[in-house]
Parts: sequence; structure tokens; C-alpha cells
Amino acid sequence: MAVKKVFVVGAGLMGGGITQVTATAGYEVVMRDIAQEPLDKSMKEIERSLGKFVSKEKITEDQAKKALANIKTTTEMADAADADLVVEAVFEKIELKQDVFKQLDEICKPDCILATNTSAISITSIASVTKRPEKVVGTHFFSPVPMMRLCELIRGLQTSDETLDAAIDYAHTIGKETVVVQKDVAGFIANRVGLAMSAVAISLVERGVATPEDIDKAMKLGFAHRMGPLETSDLTGIDVLMNAMKAIYNETQDERYAPPELMQRMVAAGLLGRKTGKGWYDYSTGEQVSYWKL
Ligand SMILES: NC(=O)c1ccc[n+]([C@@H]2O[C@H](COP(=O)([O-])OP(=O)(O)OC[C@H]3O[C@@H](n4cnc5c(N)ncnc54)[C@H](O)[C@@H]3O)[C@@H](O)[C@H]2O)c1
Repeated sequence: MAVKKVFVVGAGLMGGGITQVTATAGYEVVMRDIAQEPLDKSMKEIERSLGKFVSKEKITEDQAKKALANIKTTTEMADAADADLVVEAVFEKIELKQDVFKQLDEICKPDCILATNTSAISITSIASVTKRPEKVVGTHFFSPVPMMRLCELIRGLQTSDETLDAAIDYAHTIGKETVVVQKDVAGFIANRVGLAMSAVAISLVERGVATPEDIDKAMKLGFAHRMGPLETSDLTGIDVLMNAMKAIYNETQDERYAPPELMQRMVAAGLLGRKTGKGWYDYSTGEQVSYWKL
């Protein structure tokens, strides 16, 4: 089945980005949130972001206009009835996601594909509340969605080849590179690898082996990483990273994902990274300044 109409559930950071790239690729998109306010905020952000792409000559003004014209917003889940593909991007809570999927299963056409942008919840457990687990798939985008090229496609235990292929096709047509996660494991690929590295980097700081600045420098100059693991964790939010680690740890009991005590104290102290002005670095002067002395 060719995907034409896409329904995006959740108009936050990720839902807005997914809506933008999907509409830019020419799909009709309906974006749903529980109130008009987040929808309006998200539309403003989409307009701003498209404007930036125009000013950088990545797209034309006409393409930006067409993208905006392809987007409708709604507060009604019932508007998913004629969608060919739904991409869910609500808060990361299993009860909420299962509730959304239960509703979608009732509302959507039998051949509609239900995709989730979850970072850490198993695709299989989300699919389990539907009568179409073969049509449920993970589409894990990265933030900011219009800039980041990767989309991880995750096969739940019962996801069919047809569903996976359709999701891969959709991701390619919206300009993403894909990787396929063939088994529904916690953290998929990118977080499973990336969070282990972050945990090791943090434990090196904790043990006084090196400063965050030197660890980041080592990974940038030694392995050509664009950003070091500690700068990245300041950008993501140390609390967000800690929760993601805990999710993998809780499921696997793998000690590599146990959040180091120093990380837990940083979160307790509100040193969460860029969003609070201080994390592994101090951002209060507008610059990224290392203040760790070992
Ligand atoms: N932020 C990231 O960097 C990132 C990256 C990859 C994946 N994710 C995942 O994407 C999902 C969304 O994350 P986000 O950062 O966009 O969150 P967010 O907090 O920015 O947005 C979530 C939105 O969902 C809405 N919502 C809640 N219940 C809803 C419902 N029943 N129907 C419709 N909308 C509803 C909220 O009002 C909010 O606008 C999460 O599962 C998250 O783990 C996030």
C-alpha cells in the first residue's frame, strides 16, 4: 500500500520535526495534540525552521509554502481514520503510548501502519495492545529531526516484512538514512552504543582519571567524533541521558548502563547541562567553559 496520508500524534519537539520533514516531502500530514496551544506552538516552530532552510537555499520559498499547505492540525484522534501511516511521538510513558495505540487500533483503517518514535520502550509491548502487531514498527528519529539524517527502524517481535519495508520506504522518501534494528532490544543501536560510551566517560571523570574537556578532546581528535560524550550529554540533558541509561539497565541488568553515582548527584543538584546553564561545562557566559579541576 502506498503511503499518502500521515497522521502524527504529539506536536512536541519530535512530532513537530517529523511533521515538518514529512510535509516537505509532499505527504499530506495531520498533526494531533491534546490541545490547540502545543499545535500552534509547533506550527510556529515549523514555519521558523522552514524559513531557515529557505534562507540557507536548501529549499525554495515555494517548497516551504507547499510544505505548510500540506499540514493540518487537530485535537481529535478520530481524524486518524483515513491515514495510511501514523507516527506516534507523545511523552515517553508506556501507559500513555499503549492508550494511544489502543485508540488508533480502533480508529485506523485495517491496513494502516502504526509507528512509534519511542526512545526506550519496547515496540513489542506497545504493539501488544493492538489487534495488528504485524503492522506496528519503530521509527526512531533523532533531534532536531529536520537536521539529523538518521532514522532507526525497529522490528517488533511480530512486525511483518511488509510493514518494515513500508517504513523504510517512508523514511527514505523523507530524506532519512536508515538502519534496521532486527531485534527489539532496549536502546536499539544508537543509544545502546552511545550510552555505554557516555557511562564510561562519566565514570572516568568520577574516578578522577581525566577532566570532561580532555575526555571530549580525546574522542574528537582521536576518533574524529564531531562532539565528545560529555558535551553531547550536556546538549541532550544529563537527566534525559540518565533516564535512558536506567531504562536499558532496568531491562537488561547490564552494569554498563548503571548510571554512575556522580551522574545521579549532578541530576540531584540540577546541573543538567545547557538547559540549566551548567553541566559538565559552564554555559553562563554564553561560551562552553570547562571548570572541572581534578
Ligand atoms: N527529544 C528527543 O531528543 C527525542 C529523540 C528521539 C525520540 N524521542 C521520543 O519521542 C517522543 C516524544 O518526545 P518529545 O521530545 O517530542 O516530547 P515533547 O514533550 O516535546 O512532546 C510530547 C507531546 O505529546 C503531546 N501529547 C501527550 N499526550 C498526547 C496524546 N494522547 N495525544 C496527542 N499528543 C499528546 C504533549 O502535549 C506534547 O506536546 C518520546 O517518546 C521520546 O522518548 C525524543
